[in-house]
Amino acid sequence: MSVIEVTGLTKKFGSLVAVDHLDFEVWRGEVFGLLGPNGAGKTTTIRMLACLISPSEGSARVNGQDIVEEPLKVRETVGILTENPCLYERLTAYENLDFFAEAYGVTDPLEKRERIRELFDFFGLWERRNEKVASFSRGMKQKLAIARALVHRPPILFLDEPTAGLDPESSKEIRDLIERLSRKEKCTILLCTHRLEDAEKLANRVMIINKGRNIATGSPEQLSERITGQPVVEVKLVKLNRKVLNAVKNLSQALKVESFKDKILITVENPKSATPEIVKGIVYAGGEILTVKTLRPSLEEAYLKLVKGESS
Ligand SMILES: Nc1ncnc2c1ncn2[C@@H]1O[C@H](COP(=O)(O)OP(=O)(O)OP(=O)(O)O)[C@@H](O)[C@H]1O
Ligand SMILES: [Mg+2]
Repeated sequence: MSVIEVTGLTKKFGSLVAVDHLDFEVWRGEVFGLLGPNGAGKTTTIRMLACLISPSEGSARVNGQDIVEEPLKVRETVGILTENPCLYERLTAYENLDFFAEAYGVTDPLEKRERIRELFDFFGLWERRNEKVASFSRGMKQKLAIARALVHRPPILFLDEPTAGLDPESSKEIRDLIERLSRKEKCTILLCTHRLEDAEKLANRVMIINKGRNIATGSPEQLSERITGQPVVEVKLVKLNRKVLNAVKNLSQALKVESFKDKILITVENPKSATPEIVKGIVYAGGEILTVKTLRPSLEEAYLKLVKGESS
């Protein structure tokens, strides 16, 4: 079931078309990645869906509410992490969450205290709650900023570049937290990112946009498959000999066979049906297998080819 349905969404800034008739949907509970080069229109798209700016044309429904007709209702059901964390540096972490909880209508003292405690526990910041945000590291500020976006338990979370500017360790921590959030809090997450690694690890599906237009949508695997020719099965052996190589070459599903040292690369049509046949053939010919895997290009390769193909 889709919780975000976007139709013909467009944003113009003067003569610049920043977002150009986007159509897509995000399903309940999924992490949906929004990828694209600088200036592609990712932030503008998120800002429209969170009702921070209005579209020039088209519309969208977020959690069943129309973003043009019911912006206040939409704002109640979404949490947003913007490009800058929007925290009060001179207040403590606790005071920040307390302030934003009130601002988002969590005013019952008991409910508010429980929610804040729960968020501090989830993000591992309870011990630091009484420190001023100014003294926090970038990674800690980012965690607090995500906690801030969640104070009112929104079922939909928009994250704009959540790992930007973080070192690899903090990025991994944030990634793990996003994964846990999607699993435990059952949040639907729209994740804007430059880090293809984040998208590949977290997103069920991604949409690549360029110059405001959708150029490809699908799971990371589907996008990778779109740019490859045929899949390749790689088999590493203890030792490769002519008998094994000939056995592989004679297999009906092997379209092309190459070998390097003790490794064979077999181009096939369908790895699911070809792999058992390859393994059987090799073992029958006396080969000792170390590893077998299907090679596909990374999302990064797919992304670069798709974006480049679009602009050439
Ligand atoms: N308020 C604004 N006024 C004028 N132009 C704008 C405004 N906001 C965005 N733009 C332009 O719209 C285009 C899309 O910008 P946007 O910030 O959505 O891209 P982005 O994909 O988020 O890029 P980045 O990866 O750099 O964050 C850019 O050309 C940008 O300069
Ligand atoms: Mg942006």
